[in-house]
Amino acid sequence: MSEKAILEIDGKKYEFPIITGTENEKAIDIKALRGATGGITTIDPGYKNTGSCESAITFLNGGEEGILRYRGYSIEELADKADFLEVAYLLIFGELPTQSQLDKFHADIKANSHVDEDVKKILDGFPKSAHPMGVLSSLTSALIAFNPTSVNVDSEEDMYNAIVKIMGKFPVLVAWALRKRTGQPLDYGDDSLGYVDNILKMMFKKPNSEYVVDPIVSKALDKLLILHADHEQNCSTSTVRIVGSSHAGLFASLSAGICALWGPLHGGANQAVLEMLEGIKEDGGDTKKYMAKAKDKNDPFRLMGFGHRVYKNFDPRAKIIKVAADDVLNSLGVDDPILEIAKGLEKEALEDPYFVDRKLYPNVDFYSGIIYRAMGIPVEMFTVMFALGRLPGWIAQWKEMRENKEPIGRPRQVYTGENSRSFKEVSER
Ligand code: CMC
Repeated sequence: MSEKAILEIDGKKYEFPIITGTENEKAIDIKALRGATGGITTIDPGYKNTGSCESAITFLNGGEEGILRYRGYSIEELADKADFLEVAYLLIFGELPTQSQLDKFHADIKANSHVDEDVKKILDGFPKSAHPMGVLSSLTSALIAFNPTSVNVDSEEDMYNAIVKIMGKFPVLVAWALRKRTGQPLDYGDDSLGYVDNILKMMFKKPNSEYVVDPIVSKALDKLLILHADHEQNCSTSTVRIVGSSHAGLFASLSAGICALWGPLHGGANQAVLEMLEGIKEDGGDTKKYMAKAKDKNDPFRLMGFGHRVYKNFDPRAKIIKVAADDVLNSLGVDDPILEIAKGLEKEALEDPYFVDRKLYPNVDFYSGIIYRAMGIPVEMFTVMFALGRLPGWIAQWKEMRENKEPIGRPRQVYTGENSRSFKEVSER
């Protein structure tokens, strides 16, 4: 017999089905609550315990083990054995690609990687000081005007074409956002290179010299992109799904997702972590002082890169990135004092009752910036790198939302404002 939840309101009992996911997660299906009770709704600010959809893409579990799996494959195994393009295919289409599927996917992406020259004029209008996340979101939205056929995805073919277009053009926009900031001429990349190598070349090639991809840097970036590729219904992904649920196109939904990611409580944390660590270094490296600030409820300071809505034991991505940070810095011969400050802060936090009691552990953003910096990526670009990695996840989630024919996203509220009152002329107020 299927399980049911019974809710009693004013002595009257209502039954609701319980649905069970493939990992045995249970959820009370309250779709019928409003109708059955004559208008009672639920409230859960921040959606701390509200499931917005059923999804077959990513599983994460914040319990003892700290699990993250894309389509059933563990993040540890994918980060070790797969490359980013394979992972993108896996997330978007559900299975790891065969060699010929992967080759076709890559060829189609390359064939669609050209960005209209007129987009450069839009970029030109931004001041050099513009934050690259704002630039990226604007240019992603601007792409709609240059690719109007990507908006209506009424067939599988339309969907595929929109996907390869954005997978091809997005890295160009990322590279242009950087090159605008650093005053370098804009470029279109090199089709003879792999997906990630091409991104590096587009970002870093100087006008008067050859660019030779450093395999250590390429491998490290590939791994970071895989680790960021999806994370189920986080703030930016939920944004992408909810914007897309109005049948806004893929690029418009992604542009909104980029804005959601920008905030320091979400993807913007990687920039905030680096700035925090730099600030601590410049202030003499006194980590204890900053630990005290983070614990002081009258001080708005938070230990950036710590805490997570779901992971309450550890973030499996942070574990992999911490090891990678050591490896990459060693391999590149970079001695960055803020790595030691970061490790010191982590050690202190893990022994401090404030952090232990609240189950606050380093998250994906705590060590990633140290690797980006060792690669020569400026701090303002860190969240853009996160967006580059998250792109396939956003696409997969948007595609799933459309394929599942999800209804338009439209939460309820509990109104707490004024009751009905009469308008007063301005002279009477
Ligand atoms: N430093 C100090 N105290 C913290 C921190 C922190 N980083 N994070 C949470 N707390 C405290 C918070 O003050 C609260 O304390 P109390 O119970 O005494 O009021 C308690 O821990 C629970 O915090 P919360 O804000 O209710 O938890 P949440 O699930 O709503 O927020 C979070 C999760 C990630 C937004 C939060 O931990 C945070 O602001 N962390 C710093 C920013 C950060 O690193 N964000 C990246 C998240 S992972 C990648 C991503 O999403 O992009």
